[in-house]
Amino acid sequence: MERTLSIIKPDGVERNLIGKIISKFEENGLKVAAMKRTLLSQAEAGAFYAVHKERPFFGELVEFMTRSPVVVMCLEGENAVAKNREIMGATNPAEAAEGTIRKLFAQSIGENTVHGSDAVDTAKQEVAFFFAESEIH
Ligand code: CMP
Repeated sequence: MERTLSIIKPDGVERNLIGKIISKFEENGLKVAAMKRTLLSQAEAGAFYAVHKERPFFGELVEFMTRSPVVVMCLEGENAVAKNREIMGATNPAEAAEGTIRKLFAQSIGENTVHGSDAVDTAKQEVAFFFAESEIH
């Protein structure tokens, strides 16, 4: 059993896609083990994406992620990290495979509807960023 962090980004929440996106995870055998809807502060978004601090798109990314609420989830299942990345599709929706969340719903590389942890180590840190162990079941 593995855990990973998933975020439905502002563009997904704004377009009422929460249910459709969660269905994709459930249909593919991932379980929502913790979930909350929240409005990220600039400090929170900046800290979460600290690894991208030096990238030219960092400011734009923080602005976007704080524009309106997000839904943050801990997903659980066998190979959850890789499975979630498969379900999401490539970061750039133009390169995402048919049937993936980003192919179906994402508008651009910046507004790409979902975030998912990129590795098992990162997943542990990202899940802990949003959830206490006592909130995950
Ligand atoms: P995510 O998987 O959440 O991780 C970092 C995010 O930065 C990424 O999805 C995109 O939303 C964003 N991002 C990556 N590359 C670019 C880019 N070239 N321009 C704008 N945003 C980007």
